[in-house]
Amino acid sequence: MKNKRKIISILLSIIIIVFFPVLSISKENKNCFLGYGKERISLEYFSEICLTPGEDESMLNFSWYSRSSQGSSKIKIREEDEKERIFEGESIDIGNGFISNKVTVTNLKANTTYIYSYESDGLWSQPLEYKTQDFQNYAFVFMADPQIGASSKKTKSNIDGVEKDAYNWNKVIKKSVDKSNNPSFIVCGGDVTNATEDGDDLSKTYTSNLEYAGFLSPDYLRYIPIANAVGNHDKDNENFYNHFNVPNLTNLGETVAGGDYYFTYGNTLYLFINTNNLNILQHKKFIDDTIEKNKDIKWKIAVFHHDIYGGGRHEDDKDMKILRSEIPPILEDNKIDLVLCGHDHIYSRTYPLKNNKKIMNFTVERVENSKEKVDIIKNNNEGITYITGSSSTGSKFYKQDKNKNKYIKKIYCEEIPTYTVIEIKQDLINIVTYEVNEDKPVDNKIIIQK
Ligand SMILES: [Fe+2]
Repeated sequence: MKNKRKIISILLSIIIIVFFPVLSISKENKNCFLGYGKERISLEYFSEICLTPGEDESMLNFSWYSRSSQGSSKIKIREEDEKERIFEGESIDIGNGFISNKVTVTNLKANTTYIYSYESDGLWSQPLEYKTQDFQNYAFVFMADPQIGASSKKTKSNIDGVEKDAYNWNKVIKKSVDKSNNPSFIVCGGDVTNATEDGDDLSKTYTSNLEYAGFLSPDYLRYIPIANAVGNHDKDNENFYNHFNVPNLTNLGETVAGGDYYFTYGNTLYLFINTNNLNILQHKKFIDDTIEKNKDIKWKIAVFHHDIYGGGRHEDDKDMKILRSEIPPILEDNKIDLVLCGHDHIYSRTYPLKNNKKIMNFTVERVENSKEKVDIIKNNNEGITYITGSSSTGSKFYKQDKNKNKYIKKIYCEEIPTYTVIEIKQDLINIVTYEVNEDKPVDNKIIIQK
């Protein structure tokens, strides 16, 4: 078995090295939005550095792949014109010719520009810029199911599908960043790629690596952290675990991709629940313990892949029924303010829900001198709003379930990707979801007050 894995690793390394040039994709033709310093996109993006929020707003997590055991996992970082600090982390040989490097940087200040580089194969990278935002009033963007590579079913080859999805992934990030004006981070509702890596199946591993190259290709990910929920397409993929350096990772609700994790940013707690694992007691322990550790936090947002109150074809799946009956009471007991999901590739937003019932504690108001409508939810811990993102890249869409469920206030089933801009302030959360073509809202603006 060991020998078999070794032979597969060597073959894989040879394939990657030999095929690099063949896989290069001309940005000029297919990626007109990708004009940020690189001429071509290739499988080399598989090793790219990715930023993830740290345990709190003063910390930042980095992860990247390197190809040899030379050098260790190091980040050097400095404020403009100041002395650099060096942080060392973990290097893990992941057995396919690559090393996964994970480093955490601490003591970052708000509204500050930093320059960082990372060590790869014994060499320092070119300097990259990372700007922190305000820690109290800030915005983040939410997207779901980029599922890079899912287009491959409709394209001539895997590479064509990954090219197309990577192009749209970059496009939706660009649009959401422009709309939200320097978001502090991106939250992704899971299914980052389509295929599952399999150490014993060379072609699956190769496809997964190619899809991760596509996922990591936008340069935005070098300076905007991304926190991903574990989707059903991610759950058994070691690439997910090795590519993302998630904060406060627990072994509760664990799959190959990792377990439940959380971070805080300013006045908000973000809980990422791996709903692929149906051990509800473990999720309960994670949520209860995390809330207990962060008693004084104002806002609590849960993120998980399975949209238990969504409007698509997954509604009656066995796992969804279990999650729908077991998870909401735990979220309600812990006074969660908002839930973000994916899975159905259709945008939907519920009424505030409690005990499986609609809570009519909101008003719809018209904005003065505008057609814009606002749903104002006076939270007071009465009812949780569940938002499901559509496909963010358009790599795959599902049709609406015939019977729109009674919990849904708004559903958007056009086959156009969506992204959601969420602003966090001291006493309210503003939420607007846009379609990606004309950047028009697909739902009323939502304001949650508390
Ligand atoms: Fe998906």
